[in-house]
Amino acid sequence: MPLDILVGAQWGDEGKGRMVDLLSVQADYVARYNGGDNAGHTVNVGGQTFKLHLIPSGIIHSHTTGVIGNGVVINPLILLNEIQMLRQAGVSINPDRLHISHAAHIITPACIAEDRAREQARGVDKIGTTLRGIGPAYTHKANRTGLRMETMLNSEEFAQATQADIEETNQTLNRLYTDQDISPMDATAIANEYCQYAQQLSPYIRDISLILNESLIKKRLVLAEGAQGTLLDLDHGTYPYVTSSNTISAGALVGLGIGANWVRRIIGVTKAFQTRVGDGPFPTELGGKGHVDDPEQVALAGHLRGTGANPWDEFGTTTGRPRRVGWLDLVLLRYAIRINGITDLTLTKLDILSGLESLKICNAYRSVNSKGQAEIYKDLPMGPGNLTGVEPVYEMLPGWQQKIRDLTRWEQLPAEAHAYVLRIQELSGVPVQMVSVGPERSQIITLT
Ligand code: IMP
Repeated sequence: MPLDILVGAQWGDEGKGRMVDLLSVQADYVARYNGGDNAGHTVNVGGQTFKLHLIPSGIIHSHTTGVIGNGVVINPLILLNEIQMLRQAGVSINPDRLHISHAAHIITPACIAEDRAREQARGVDKIGTTLRGIGPAYTHKANRTGLRMETMLNSEEFAQATQADIEETNQTLNRLYTDQDISPMDATAIANEYCQYAQQLSPYIRDISLILNESLIKKRLVLAEGAQGTLLDLDHGTYPYVTSSNTISAGALVGLGIGANWVRRIIGVTKAFQTRVGDGPFPTELGGKGHVDDPEQVALAGHLRGTGANPWDEFGTTTGRPRRVGWLDLVLLRYAIRINGITDLTLTKLDILSGLESLKICNAYRSVNSKGQAEIYKDLPMGPGNLTGVEPVYEMLPGWQQKIRDLTRWEQLPAEAHAYVLRIQELSGVPVQMVSVGPERSQIITLT
């Protein structure tokens, strides 16, 4: 059996967690390959809501084995808390059910302190990171100064390395950010604390590439669970407003140590509209920059975002920040399909569009060239890094008033919802396999 890869086709928060949950029914292994606890995957099962940041959400199914790949950066305290939370909820977690790559890098308090200091120093140009130490952990990895999980297996070496890491960061922060009042971290106390984490996590540390490849040969199904989304990819996203890992499908191969020959499906998840948390360009944003006083846009944004009263409203799982919202952007979706090689799409949160009179889909951008002439383009001429100055060109479609949460079959959806989904399929050139109409496991409809 092969490798299936699930990726976010937008700026993260597409509802990947619940799709992983659904696809895990057939999977033997569910593996995270990138990012760290900046991710927040929410899964609702039988009235219980699980919010997972590091452990793959597919582990909630008792037949699966969870894997945290070498491409992930791990905050050990968050991981241990998550293990405990799952155990308390009745999910069995032990070294036979969860494997952590020996080559995954560790997020220490030094990484978190650096993330904070850098963001503060950037001022108005801040990226709007989750302040979880993600960027610095990947920077240390690329610098070849990072701490890997395998270091935990030798407690003396690990204590020394952690202490040295903290001491060095104390000096760096003190030297670089003189205008910030940063108290030095207690390197000895942190090293001791981290040694305790190492003791608890050591039994889980394995060569996950070996395990996964042997399993693929035995015809087991591996599901790779992407975190964040295509437009936050370090190389292919809206740079510099991106995360520090490769979120796209190719990241799964690097982040798990699996060859491209095993890939079968690449499932892209997109919301029926667009959201983004943090700073950076967002051409179809409603009520954003330049439109904050437009009551119509603000009301529409409120409709899409929700009030925050429900767990599915558009407020960050990790940070609680209200998400920026807007119309679905097909220029960016086509880009995500190309960069990932997406073979089929899942469209989430279709139910949120109920009650809107009309809907818009952005199918092209308009911009003015250096000669002052207007140009229309359907594909990004130079990637998504520079989207300033582009204006969305919209298609209008009729909305529907009917609530669709309780519907279970494609034929039951209103004609306008069919038209909306099918138009997305047509404009994207990729089949939409499923739509979600609510947050529960059962509220997913397969297209017929
Ligand atoms: P970092 O990953 O914390 O460095 O943040 C970099 C950018 O990625 C910021 O705009 C974050 O808001 C965004 N980001 C990181 N993780 C997620 C996620 O899981 N969902 C949505 N946005 C994310």
